[in-house]
Amino acid sequence: MTTVLGNAGIPDSRIEGDLLCMQAMCATREELYISLDQPLEPSVADCLALLLDRRLSREPAAYILGYKEFYGFVLSVSPEVLIPRPETEHVVESVLQVLSDKTTSSRPVVLDIGTGSGAIAIAVASKSPQSVVIASDISSAAIKIAYANKSKYPKLHNIEFVIGDLLTWFQGPVDVIAANLPYVPTSVVQTLDPEIRLYEPLEALDGGKDGLDFIRQIVEQAAGLLTSTGSLILELDPSQVHPLCMFISEAYRGVKLRVVKDLHGLDRVLVVTGLAVH
Ligand SMILES: C[S@@+](CC[C@H](N)C(=O)[O-])C[C@H]1O[C@@H](n2cnc3c(N)ncnc32)[C@H](O)[C@@H]1O
Repeated sequence: MTTVLGNAGIPDSRIEGDLLCMQAMCATREELYISLDQPLEPSVADCLALLLDRRLSREPAAYILGYKEFYGFVLSVSPEVLIPRPETEHVVESVLQVLSDKTTSSRPVVLDIGTGSGAIAIAVASKSPQSVVIASDISSAAIKIAYANKSKYPKLHNIEFVIGDLLTWFQGPVDVIAANLPYVPTSVVQTLDPEIRLYEPLEALDGGKDGLDFIRQIVEQAAGLLTSTGSLILELDPSQVHPLCMFISEAYRGVKLRVVKDLHGLDRVLVVTGLAVH
């Protein structure tokens, strides 16, 4: 399995091979390893062949398996939502850090705009039970999946869901706005790996000519809704961080900008404070 996937140029072939075998066998990792020298049941072999075919057609493993782990949560995913990425965990960390700075109210309101599978909202709501988290997306299919993911964690009572366009539906005030919105420039979408361009939803990827269409809009909308100590926390492509910082600091005097790097040392998250124009 690992060799077939590796020869086809699939990255992480060892891990993915194990996960597909575990799925076909309905087995844990331990059960898989114990049974490695035993022949496969014909029904398991057939199922494995189907899963392998799908992966060789470059369908992402997360869609084949139907789930992806994010910040310790197992989230259901389908082609109607983006597969949550490890770098987005830095958005969660940044939100939690802002909340722990105690500049927000005792029951802070946190928005996760473009929630997709609900990844950011579920992680923040769980780690910050005193917060009220509102997760929104323009896609009703995404909100359905995010709601189902939240429902898998019955102790989570502090998340609400809204279908809506960016912040147009919200009256404010709000302590923290987090967003991982589409930020891939239109011309770049068709150059992405087949796993992304053929399977992930275009409306979760395409951010317009320079990738910043949604980001500029949310900055402008957030300025009228954030409390005076509130923060806007955005995931970006590293190449977009500097231009966006220039745009914000020219438009909003006195604003504070903090850049958070990802595990590869690349600029990934921008924390904007002092944006409020009340
Ligand atoms: C890059 S995905 C991020 C999903 C999720 N937050 C994550 O990090 O895994 C962007 C999400 O923004 C949503 N979106 C696109 N345009 C939007 C808009 N105008 N208003 C609200 N959400 C939007 C998409 O449907 C998609 O779910």
